[in-house]
Amino acid sequence: MIIIGFESSCDETGVALVCTERGLLAHALHSQIDMHRDYGGVVPELASRDHIRRVIPLTRQVLAQAGLALNDVDAVAYTAGPGLAGALLVGASVAQAIAWSLEIPAIPVHHLEGHLLSPLLARPRPEFPFVALLVSGGHTQLMRVDGVGRYTLLGETLDDAAGEAFDKSAKLMGLGYPGGPALSRLAENGNAALHELPRPMLHSPDLDFSFSGLKTAVLTRVRALEREHGALSEQHLADLAAATEAAIVDVLAAKALKAVKQAGVKRLVVAGGVGANRHLRKQLTEAMQRKGGEVYFPPLEFCTDNGAMIAFAAAQRVNAGLVDLSATGDAFTVRPRWELTDVCVPEAIIG
Ligand code: KG4
Ligand code: ZN
Repeated sequence: MIIIGFESSCDETGVALVCTERGLLAHALHSQIDMHRDYGGVVPELASRDHIRRVIPLTRQVLAQAGLALNDVDAVAYTAGPGLAGALLVGASVAQAIAWSLEIPAIPVHHLEGHLLSPLLARPRPEFPFVALLVSGGHTQLMRVDGVGRYTLLGETLDDAAGEAFDKSAKLMGLGYPGGPALSRLAENGNAALHELPRPMLHSPDLDFSFSGLKTAVLTRVRALEREHGALSEQHLADLAAATEAAIVDVLAAKALKAVKQAGVKRLVVAGGVGANRHLRKQLTEAMQRKGGEVYFPPLEFCTDNGAMIAFAAAQRVNAGLVDLSATGDAFTVRPRWELTDVCVPEAIIG
């Protein structure tokens, strides 16, 4: 079965074709980063309008890449939430229009399930069960994953997400948008030991996180450096960036390792935009090696938002028998706020 998938929850328009038997066939992405950069963050109305402009050309592009026609598609998947309402509506309405016109099923996909299953796009692919560290711009969660649709929340952030901590710290330091990659690039030339920053909840007995205090600490440092030196030099910024990255990564790594231990599994999977962070990848890879376990990351291009993970998540749900393909809805909805646990298979069915 061939599934076309649409992602439009935030500032990336992604379209992909996945075959339920053969895997990913083609994918294309347009990032709106350049458009939002002048505003220092995503402007929802501009995001929606740009999704409208991009989605059809990207659809043509993936069909051409795969050598397929729209008529060859058997089902349409789209990100139904969580995300920006207007942006979600673009992908959802295009997906539904295609589904209605071809009389094929439309499959709403939870954006975080897309991230969660994206490491399965890599080879070797992790086997279930595993612990997933889900670190995106809006979410920081630790999940136990026993199979498709079988997710147990182990811990999550009580305030800011890790990606937000990167982005907000970067903003305080006057770095560009999006802050995470910019801060991380700068950190490569910095000395983290020059600033002692807090590692909130590092030793708390639970698997929760808190990152909101970190940005206050970064702000205090920025002010202190400005008082002492006037404008911040490139080296000051690099040192502070390195210290900020180290603080975030230390907490993420410590809690992820604790979750692996508590869950009694050997495999850790990292997903979401912050999963692209080199420092996090290195720290977790080394730590899991020492413990005789394995760590898996999605291919870099599938860490941040993309259409491949949405079409792929839909294919995984179809293969697991979790999608009613005979249901042809006469309406559609998007869910800007949507808990991942809502797409879990009920315990009663797992048995
Ligand atoms: O998963 P994602 O693309 O979008 C959401 O669903 O939120 O994640 C975006 C987040 C942003 O906060 C961005 O700054 C962060 O991922 N990010 C990074 C890196 N690349 C992206 N953070 C740290 N280091 C990176 N290399
Ligand atoms: Zn995302």
